[in-house]
Amino acid sequence: MSDIQHHKILILDFGSQYTQLIARRIREIGIYCELLPYDVKPHFIEKFNPSGIILSGGPDTVGDDNSARAPEIIFTLNVPILGICYGMQTMAVQLGGEAKSSKKAEFGFAKIRARNHSKLLNKISDEKNSKGHSLLDVWMSHGIEVTKLPVGFDLIASTDNCPIAGFANNNKNYFGLQFHPEVTHTKQGVQILERFVTEICKCQKNWTTDNIIEDLLLNIKNQVGNNKVLLGLSGGVDSSVVAILLHQAIGKQLTCVFVDNGLLRLNEGNEVMNTFSENLGVKVIRADAQQYFYEQLSNEGDPEAKRKIIGNAFIKIFDQEAKKIKGINFLAQGTIYPDIIESAGAASGKAKVIKSHHNVGGLPEDLKFELVEPLKELFKDEVRAIGERLGLPRKMLHRHPFPGPGLGVRILGPIKEEFAQILREADNIFMEELNNQQLYDKVDQAFAVFLPVKSVGVTGDDRRYDYVIALRAVETIDFMTARWARLPYDFLDHVSNRIINEISRVSRVVYDISGKPPATIEWE
Ligand code: XMP
Repeated sequence: MSDIQHHKILILDFGSQYTQLIARRIREIGIYCELLPYDVKPHFIEKFNPSGIILSGGPDTVGDDNSARAPEIIFTLNVPILGICYGMQTMAVQLGGEAKSSKKAEFGFAKIRARNHSKLLNKISDEKNSKGHSLLDVWMSHGIEVTKLPVGFDLIASTDNCPIAGFANNNKNYFGLQFHPEVTHTKQGVQILERFVTEICKCQKNWTTDNIIEDLLLNIKNQVGNNKVLLGLSGGVDSSVVAILLHQAIGKQLTCVFVDNGLLRLNEGNEVMNTFSENLGVKVIRADAQQYFYEQLSNEGDPEAKRKIIGNAFIKIFDQEAKKIKGINFLAQGTIYPDIIESAGAASGKAKVIKSHHNVGGLPEDLKFELVEPLKELFKDEVRAIGERLGLPRKMLHRHPFPGPGLGVRILGPIKEEFAQILREADNIFMEELNNQQLYDKVDQAFAVFLPVKSVGVTGDDRRYDYVIALRAVETIDFMTARWARLPYDFLDHVSNRIINEISRVSRVVYDISGKPPATIEWE
């Protein structure tokens, strides 16, 4: 374990939608933390040797049979503990207090009054009331609340509806908050978390972008030595940051393979090659496999079958290229921390939806490589910060997500090269205009879709019978649910005119006004 991870916080996940946010906040404060399911075996907790522990919120009802409990070992380790929402409630019950259904459930903004000058909240406030009491605007989300303090605990916060909205055992450094300091609606949330991790847990702020980079470079050098490493470079954020890190760490020992599958966005292949090969001097082999992919996809209309074909074709081409390079021992992957969290899940299955690793999963077994996964402890924001520090273009790091199968799931039905070209141009016009009108960063994902149906149009005196382009733009936090973006009518009008005027094979543009659910973000 390296030095920048010496002071660290353990977050036990009870399944709240905000748990990853807690971890991101702690990291942003400059302290390393890891997230483990609440029912992790006690020896993992001892081995982790945390400087402090945070218990997250969760969906359980604390009094119910089989409701989640914090592992008893945490109360024997002599480290500070902060329970948030469900974490506070289970702490109360496990330490001899009580928690019951609230008379009035609270969801949303609340104003709490801080009490008794606790170590956690002392001198942190948004405003004072007429009696000089500190008031804080916080975000509540609960239907249960602590109704009796455990012995040794003091009240540290209350609201009109929730008399025990925070408690503390100042001797043991145990704290509970009914509200969520990790969400931005709690204005002083970061201050409260910072107070906990720095002053109470006594962690030093060593988790900074520069330190992380230095540490990663060292670890890569130690792992790889003089050996050669292969990386499948897609041009997406994660694989791009892995490429630049490995290039800095081991230079010419790295070879990247970039597969141009004909399903990329306009100029994307050239941009990736320019950025990495020409500007940064990274060794990149470009596999031009457009025709192979188009042939494989020309007769298949079923979305799932298309995905499989694209996955298999990618593996085949990557494998072919890899076999041409001799003496490779390591395969690098852009796995990031959320991939690991989501694959691990809780032993009970309560805390997380299980999802398998998505990175180059399914590479053939006879590619016998050891894995190099330098980003596997990092969140996306940290990955972007590293990329930016190491000189990757902002545009590349802040692009909307692009699915692995690329335009393959945005050309409905069987794929033809002609369709891909039309879609690339339409998508590019949409992106250009979103950027020109400062709307790109206001939506979370936007793209064009090619519909292989023809509709009648008229240009001048000529009748047209051409294809349809659908525009899709969504606002979302987690991509699990999404709202269609209310882009201005004038903007849509302008994009539509440009697409129909500039692309001869398009006679009609439509805007997708479906939410997720019931629709998905992609059309296939
Ligand atoms: P859906 O269409 O499921 O998309 O609402 C949610 C998010 O996932 C992306 N997506 C994919 N990403 N491989 C990927 O790497 C895929 O097969 C895939 N399908 C969808 C989609 O772009 C959106 O951001």
